Amino acid sequence: MIQHNDYSDLLRNNHKWAAEKLETDKSYFEELAKPQKPKFLFIGCSDSRIPLESITESEPGELFVHRNIANQINLTDINLLSIIEYAVEILNIEHIIVLGHYKCGGVKAAVEGLDEEDIVENWVSQISDLYHFHKKELESIGDKAKMYDKLSEMNVISQLKNLLRTPIIQRAFRNNKKLYFHGWIFDIYTGLINDLQLPLDEWKEYDLLPEDY
Ligand code: CO
Repeated sequence: MIQHNDYSDLLRNNHKWAAEKLETDKSYFEELAKPQKPKFLFIGCSDSRIPLESITESEPGELFVHRNIANQINLTDINLLSIIEYAVEILNIEHIIVLGHYKCGGVKAAVEGLDEEDIVENWVSQISDLYHFHKKELESIGDKAKMYDKLSEMNVISQLKNLLRTPIIQRAFRNNKKLYFHGWIFDIYTGLINDLQLPLDEWKEYDLLPEDY
């Protein structure tokens, strides 16, 4: 695995990258400087092993991104809420993807805690609740790593449910905006993204989705 130990490598690589882009397309950066029109809003984990552009082969300008530890959608997170508002109301993005991943340190920390560090534990406390709610089912899995991976999947679904609760999304529905929601898991063991089945009927029952969604 290539490791950039020296920050100057990053700057050198950036210059190489910019030169290569210009070589293939003289107007590349002129185009890039035009207003952005991304089609996808990604809400993912900050984990360094999930570089969104690389794993989806996306180019600059294609993904509008928010990342935090364990891809939480916290209804009091003004940072995330303003990103969702900007994405839906200004950029008119129709596809919102919550991307979790296996071997997520935030998910594990929610259950086991971290040494002498409790800010992260506070941040992921929703996952701790989720774990306790589904404890029987999760513990029946037996294998600990698999249990955490299942909890990562549950977390994605649970965060999407939070997303539907936001006034921004509910307002978008009232205005008949087209919106598509996706719950994805990056399988770090294979490099593949799993598209999770969403409990749409349950969400409709909670009045979080319009009947005709
Ligand atoms: Co993570």
